[in-house]
Amino acid sequence: MKLKFTTILTAALAALCLGAAAPALSQSNWPDKPVTLVVPFAAGGPTDLVARLIAIPMGKSLGQTVLVENTVGAGGTIAGARVARAAPNGYTLFLHHMGMATAPALYKKLPFDPLKDFEYIGQAVDVPMTLLARKDFPANNFKELEAYVRANKDKISLANAGLGAVSHLCGLLFMSQIGVDLITVPYKGTGPAMNDLLGGQVDLLCDQTTTTVPIIKDGRVKVYGVTTLKRLSALPNVPTLDEQGLKGFEVKVWHGLYAPKGTPAPVLEKINAALRVALQDSMVKQRMADLSSDIVPMDKVTPAGLKTQLESEIAKWGPVIQKAGIYAD
Ligand code: MLT
Repeated sequence: MKLKFTTILTAALAALCLGAAAPALSQSNWPDKPVTLVVPFAAGGPTDLVARLIAIPMGKSLGQTVLVENTVGAGGTIAGARVARAAPNGYTLFLHHMGMATAPALYKKLPFDPLKDFEYIGQAVDVPMTLLARKDFPANNFKELEAYVRANKDKISLANAGLGAVSHLCGLLFMSQIGVDLITVPYKGTGPAMNDLLGGQVDLLCDQTTTTVPIIKDGRVKVYGVTTLKRLSALPNVPTLDEQGLKGFEVKVWHGLYAPKGTPAPVLEKINAALRVALQDSMVKQRMADLSSDIVPMDKVTPAGLKTQLESEIAKWGPVIQKAGIYAD
C-alpha cells in the first residue's frame, strides 16, 4: 500500500513537473504556427495598410507568417472584445489606433477594458489626416468648402468609419469648428468609405495619409487641408486646416500593438523585438516617409511607451467626449 502511495505520489509529481514544463516549452517554441494580427477596420483602409506593412518583416523576424484578420464593426470595439477574450498565448495580437483611448468615453457598454484586458507591446506609427471630397464636389478650395457647406448643410454627407473611428473624430472637429452639422454616414472602415467617395456616393471624408496621399496626387479626390500644424512633405502644396482658419486643428493618429492580458512575458519580448525590427525595416521606413507618416522613436516602441500613451490619451479624450455628449448606448 505504501509502495502504491509512493508510486502515485511520484507519478503525480512527475505530472505536475510536466505540467509546469509545458508552458515553458511552448513559450520557448513560440511561434510554431502563424500569428494572427487583428485589425479593427476593413481591408484597404489605413489601419489595415499599417498592419500589412509591418506583418511582413515581423513574420520574417519571427520565422512564421503574421496573418492580418479584419474584424470590423462598432468603431473597432468588436475587434477589441475579440482580442480581449482570445487565448493569451501570443498567437492573437491587436493593432489599434487612438480609438483604443476614445472608446471608454464613447461606449457606455464597452465589452472590454483597454487598461485591464491587454498587454502592451509598443507604439508603432503616427499618421496625419486629410480632409477630402469627391472629385466633382462643387467647392474647389477650403474657403469655397466653408461657404458651400454652410449653405447646403442638409444635403451634404460626411462619411466615417463608425463611432470612435478617427475619421469620425476628425469630422466632428471639422463640423464643430465651422459650426454646422452634416449628415454623417458610418462605414466599417475608411476603405469602403473611400470606395464610395471615389464612386461619388458620399461627399466628404477625413482620412489618413497612409491611404490618401496616392489618390490626392492622382487627382482622384479634392483635398482641402491636412490636419497637422505644419504642411506635409508628401503634399507640400496642400495647406494645413490651421493656416486656413481652423485654428489649432490638429489630428495625428497614433497606433499601438497589444496582446491579450496574461500573454507570457518571454513571448511579449519576442513580439516587441519583431515589432522593432519591422519598424526599422528599410521598406517600411521608406513607405511611411512617402506617406508623410512617422515611425515613433524606439523608446516609445516599448510596453511602457504604449502604456503611458494610452493612459494619457484616455485622460485627454474622456472629458472632451463627455462635454460633447457623444456616446453609444
Ligand atoms: C480604418 O482603418 O478604416 C480607419 O483607421 C478607420 C478610422 O477612421 O479610424
